[in-house]
Amino acid sequence: MSDHSSRADGARVLADLNALRAIGVHKTGVHKPTFSEPHLASLQWLLSKLSEAKLAGTIDGIGNVISQSDKVGAKLLAGSHLESQNYAGWLDGPLGVVYALEAARVLNPDPAVAGAVEVAAWCDEEGHFGHFLGSRSYVGALTEADIDAASDRSSGRAMREALSAAGLAGVPRAMAEPGRHVGYLEAHIEQGQTLESENLKIGVVTSIVGIWQYRITFTGEQNHAGTTRMADRKDAGLALAKFCVAIDERFPKLCGPRTVWTTGRITLDPGAPSIIPGGADMLFQVRDADVAVVERLEAALNEMAVEVSAQGRCSVTVERLRTGRPAMMDSKFQQAVEEASAALGGGKSLRMPSGAGHDAQILATIMPAGMLFVPSIGGISHHWTENTSDEDIVTGAQVYVDACRRLLTQ
Ligand code: GLV
Ligand code: MN
Ligand code: MN
Repeated sequence: MSDHSSRADGARVLADLNALRAIGVHKTGVHKPTFSEPHLASLQWLLSKLSEAKLAGTIDGIGNVISQSDKVGAKLLAGSHLESQNYAGWLDGPLGVVYALEAARVLNPDPAVAGAVEVAAWCDEEGHFGHFLGSRSYVGALTEADIDAASDRSSGRAMREALSAAGLAGVPRAMAEPGRHVGYLEAHIEQGQTLESENLKIGVVTSIVGIWQYRITFTGEQNHAGTTRMADRKDAGLALAKFCVAIDERFPKLCGPRTVWTTGRITLDPGAPSIIPGGADMLFQVRDADVAVVERLEAALNEMAVEVSAQGRCSVTVERLRTGRPAMMDSKFQQAVEEASAALGGGKSLRMPSGAGHDAQILATIMPAGMLFVPSIGGISHHWTENTSDEDIVTGAQVYVDACRRLLTQ
């Protein structure tokens, strides 16, 4: 049983989150792409805080902050990420890192807790250079060749160059030590409207969606926008636009109840007002917790590409860039979060799947993992207006620390 004798310090949690927001502030959010100066300063900030939690930590060769406790007993791994999407919110990532730090500060010095929380910040969860590079490295699912090939999606900067500029070239990558941790617990903002709309305070995550990503490339013929008759054009941009519409017509007949798909970026080549685009490509993402559904949708994409190519104006290729890994959250972790919510969150919790990707889905491949959500105001995230009320942040911290205590004392 938990005695709740020592609890999260809500004011300290809020002060830490605001300190991280001040590093790389953008309006009410932050701009901290992976390996940017504010991202690296945030990693240093975390390192400087670890001694308050009786932890020793380093930044490893992929940019993860990894820490260790020398306390005897069970160890729980806890954390999230400190980089952000471009010009995005202040809580996506830092909330989970600060809750983990707070749990370590409360529980590690407590002699009644026979174990410790070890805090981690995983690098590049937001996928500037790849996807889940830090947590994949930690679980042994990232090769040196993957790092050689990685580059920043906005600037094109090579990952090797970014690592070297950060002083991390040649620094060893930390790998999970088999059997060291009883599991991994991550807190996050919900990034949706379910909790807020039902006046709930805590989401107990049951599963995390898999994310599949594709580059769909259209090749036509570049030509003059004034002299080329409409009937003679091979407009790759128009083919792309029609393809997007066709996806939206075909996918609803094939998808599952929670499938989502997004064209997040379109590029026209050369992209000029007086030139018919000879090339076009789109980055397209599909998310679902059911692999079979995505296989069906991927087959449809390939069929559509063949159909368009057969019409003879433009050729279309579909290249899969990322293969999803849906993950189930451990039942003991779900139970611990639910019990902690009953004890300290007024029991206003809901078991729910996550439509966003999180490092917990990578950690879940090698150890039991769980997640806790707090409400997002208006369900907004990946935008600088992302927010959660101070009251909900503090409630979440209390529940998180208590869930960590339960997991360590089980
Ligand atoms: C993570 O940020 C995601 O895009 O789901
Ligand atoms: Mn996140
Ligand atoms: Mn995010």
